Amino acid sequence: MLAGATGFEPLYLGPNLPAREIVAAAERTSPQAVVLGTYTSEPTQETTEDLKLVASQLPKRTELWLGGSAARKALPVVCHDGMFALENFGELDSHLARLKADWGRAVGQVTLRGDRNLRELPAAPPKPVRSRKPVGTGQVKSNGLQPIVAAIESFDYATANAQLGRLAAMLPVHDLVGKVVLPLMRLVGERWHDGTLTIAQEHMTSAILRNLMGGLVRLYAPPTQPVRILFATPSGDLHEFGILAAAMLAGATGFDPLYLGPNLPAQEIVAVAERTSPKGVVLGINTSEPTAKIMADLRLVASQLPKSAELWLGGIGARKALSAVHCARAFVLENFDELDVHLARLKGEELRLRDRAMAAAAEGIVISDANQPGNPLIYVNDGFARLTGYSRGEALGRNCHFLQGQDTDPAALEQIRVSLRERRDCLVELLNYRKDGTPFWNRLSITPLQDVQGRLTHFVGVQSDITARKLGGAVSSGQRRDSRLQ
Ligand SMILES: Cc1cc2nc3c(=O)[nH]c(=O)nc-3n(C[C@H](O)[C@H](O)[C@H](O)COP(=O)(O)O)c2cc1C
Repeated sequence: MLAGATGFEPLYLGPNLPAREIVAAAERTSPQAVVLGTYTSEPTQETTEDLKLVASQLPKRTELWLGGSAARKALPVVCHDGMFALENFGELDSHLARLKADWGRAVGQVTLRGDRNLRELPAAPPKPVRSRKPVGTGQVKSNGLQPIVAAIESFDYATANAQLGRLAAMLPVHDLVGKVVLPLMRLVGERWHDGTLTIAQEHMTSAILRNLMGGLVRLYAPPTQPVRILFATPSGDLHEFGILAAAMLAGATGFDPLYLGPNLPAQEIVAVAERTSPKGVVLGINTSEPTAKIMADLRLVASQLPKSAELWLGGIGARKALSAVHCARAFVLENFDELDVHLARLKGEELRLRDRAMAAAAEGIVISDANQPGNPLIYVNDGFARLTGYSRGEALGRNCHFLQGQDTDPAALEQIRVSLRERRDCLVELLNYRKDGTPFWNRLSITPLQDVQGRLTHFVGVQSDITARKLGGAVSSGQRRDSRLQ
């Protein structure tokens, strides 16, 4: 992020990458530097071997920067010109500034010496290079994916990201997931299996899709009280494509996806669920024969998950995995349609709960359709019927005018009119009349509702009967009571 924000082109390959993949990606993309995070206090034998391999095989012009808690310890065991430990992010900043300055100096010299010396430029700041392998056009199922796949092949993060962003802006989210994200994941998976894409490229694709998901969640998640769902894969399962696509769909249909990523210990999944009260926990099981460890982890998750959370298992090993879990709240998601079905069920339950809460409220709660002529009511709760004496059937489809009468203050109505026109909240106290003609003081609050594009869709009104307070206030201040309310 820091590198990207300071004008570099970061190629994020993600965690847990084999040394050969790091070297291969560096050979193909000619970076100025490779930054490796090492996060154990004592680097393991395997980490040390991997670092040696990377250091010895990196292109000569590429610097190797080690960050993280084990960086200083790891440094002496590897030998590579232009190798540094980054003690903190300040040091990262300094090295980035140095690279930038070197590059600036080089460009300056060339400009002074003229165009014919351009060939002498040192390696430019990282620029994507074309893949030597041709794009397997036969395997690309949709032409729309081809530019994205080509960009992934050449490690061109920015272009792949921009292409996906463009499609995300054009397509409804179900199409985006069904026609772009899933085929892309499948394609990248196949290409990885047949050896024409590397793990690094698979990681890069995951990073782009995670980024895309972040954007979708920001775009679609409702601002208040969305239903939370967790997404993860258990320890040892590194395939995150399935849970990524599922989280996108959930985010786009109004849920609050909490994406925890792949390879998460069972205790962590349980601990997060305890702290965040999700309605569902979606686990991807991506081997057809789940290992004994995965089965044991699933048993642990199923037995310790909060009672209010369901456990949903997706992926090719889901059905086998379910047999390990004796839990009435566990389901298999055979495909993304089934995910949709379960999401719709949860949403239905949530709406019914809110309905019950609205019905139980003492206040009147109404919703009007701001886009229909006359701003008619499309929802009234039981509290409204109790307060006004009008049944739901009598109120729906009408404007709230019918509550007003001869002594309703025109100034209060003008205040409402102005607020509705300007789409602002409003709070007024005005005299209204019940169906049987008796007056009451109504403390009315009206709030405009907007859709994700900021367009006005509805108004919500909340009515409270404040007659007792109004009359009490009038008496205590020695004012004359409103004769109609005596
Ligand atoms: C959601 C909503 C709830 C309202 N509730 C009431 C109400 O309880 N009592 C009332 O006198 N007016 C209420 N009004 C205001 C009237 O419906 C109407 O907007 C107001 O009289 C101004 O409109 P007019 O210019 O047609 O008179 C409500 C308006 C909205 C949008």
